[in-house]
Amino acid sequence: MEKNAVWYTNGKGNNVKVLVCKDYDTLSKKAAGILAGIVNVKPNAILGLATGSSPVGTYKELIKLNQEGLLDFSAVRTYNLDEYYPLDPSNDQSYHYFMNDNLFDHVNIDKNNVHVPDGNAPDMNKACESYEAMLNEVGGVDIQVLGIGGNGHIGFNEPTDTFVGPTHVVELTESTIKANSRFFEKIEDVPTKAISMGIASIMKAKKILLVANGTGKADAIAKTLEGPITPWVPASILQLHPDVTIIVDEAAASGLKEYKPAE
Ligand code: F6R
Repeated sequence: MEKNAVWYTNGKGNNVKVLVCKDYDTLSKKAAGILAGIVNVKPNAILGLATGSSPVGTYKELIKLNQEGLLDFSAVRTYNLDEYYPLDPSNDQSYHYFMNDNLFDHVNIDKNNVHVPDGNAPDMNKACESYEAMLNEVGGVDIQVLGIGGNGHIGFNEPTDTFVGPTHVVELTESTIKANSRFFEKIEDVPTKAISMGIASIMKAKKILLVANGTGKADAIAKTLEGPITPWVPASILQLHPDVTIIVDEAAASGLKEYKPAE
């Protein structure tokens, strides 16, 4: 086993595999390796993608592999988790823009195969329904990339008293608005709503790949893996998914008590 990345297990035989990497760079290379492996085996793979800082390094590695001729995106289809509402896709704060900037513009993907929830739809509820219908039509993505909020959110599924199943409209919490204001000029510019895949939409993925780095994620990662399954920690639902890989750096793994290096 390489020293810069060690698999962890809680020894209880559950299906969540945890790979602890010494740093963000290693984490990004490992995550990209998993995604590239899937695309190489299945060139028309369906990828569920996330925005935010966590997967940026992973996307950089994918771009590198593509530019080196080791990874072909020409038949890949993608579905993103979420989008702010209301926000035009051309707005440089939109998740649509983010994905173009951090991945799609730099690889040979066919933009007709790219799907991001419509942050500009005249009817939000219809936009949610049609996004969910598209996900159902493809039978769930082959692999869903996730980040995690410091409060345990996945997509924009915020902590609350119930899990919401399908793609839906979300009122963003104060903590998420504050966390995301770093990308905007001022906090008032952060949209207060979003369209997000729901918990059921995410759980339909055949595989889940969650990446997290930094001490700000340590508590959320510990609760996700070792706490009770509760909508107050939305990511805790992943304990019920049959195929989850969580790739973290040492800082994000620092709250884990039950997980130990695998023999
Ligand atoms: C992004 C998303 C969010 C982020 C989460 C972590 O599409 O759905 O759940 O993954 O907020 O964000 P970062 O990676 O910026 O810490």
